[in-house]
Amino acid sequence: MDALTRRKWDRAAGAFDFINGLGAERRWEPVKREFFSTMHGRVLFVAVGTGLDIRYFPPAVQIDGIDISDKMLERARPRAEAYAGPMTLRHLDVHDLDYPAGTFDQVFTSCTFCSVPDPVRALEAVRRVLKPAGELRMFEHTGSRYFPFNALLNLMNPIARLTGPEINRDTVGNVRRAGFRLVEVRHAYLDVVKTIHAVAPA
Ligand SMILES: C[S@@+](CC[C@H](N)C(=O)[O-])C[C@H]1O[C@@H](n2cnc3c(N)ncnc32)[C@H](O)[C@@H]1O
Repeated sequence: MDALTRRKWDRAAGAFDFINGLGAERRWEPVKREFFSTMHGRVLFVAVGTGLDIRYFPPAVQIDGIDISDKMLERARPRAEAYAGPMTLRHLDVHDLDYPAGTFDQVFTSCTFCSVPDPVRALEAVRRVLKPAGELRMFEHTGSRYFPFNALLNLMNPIARLTGPEINRDTVGNVRRAGFRLVEVRHAYLDVVKTIHAVAPA
């Protein structure tokens, strides 16, 4: 397990709900409700954080939630216990997924692939645990193709990454590089906040 990343997110756990409760959660609620409504079968949720998204999960889905930070997971535990279906939480680095190949029907992520240190390797690990033609569904913020947003995000990135995520990543490109087929990319805010739907090879 990557100790640096773990420590960074352990440190962020205490203030995470307060900072995200300032507006981000309310702002993205309609997008997230629709995004998570497609959950079915056995689902891996990568980087559950403090579990803020659990409220949007439809009932009765079998969900395995993982995160590299046990401080985040401590906060997520009561929310997972309140979920109306079978949900387990594990302290696990996405780069080291140890589930047998082809375990999951779907993998969901939410503001995660801005944070994992080696996104393409982590996405390859995700691809391995998906069933053939299994779905990858991501709600992510990324870099922008447009000026001045690209310049601003590049400028602010060295500071952002010290305490939290990278804000200028090419996550759509990373999904392709990891061997997925893109089905749909929908922009929720400019070309920065988006949902990505991709499938593993059949
Ligand atoms: C920006 S937070 C998002 C949390 C949650 N998905 C949400 O939207 O509320 C990023 C999360 O990714 C987790 N994370 C970062 N690197 C990880 C890794 N390599 N494996 C698993 N989780 C990781 C962090 O611990 C943190 O909980």
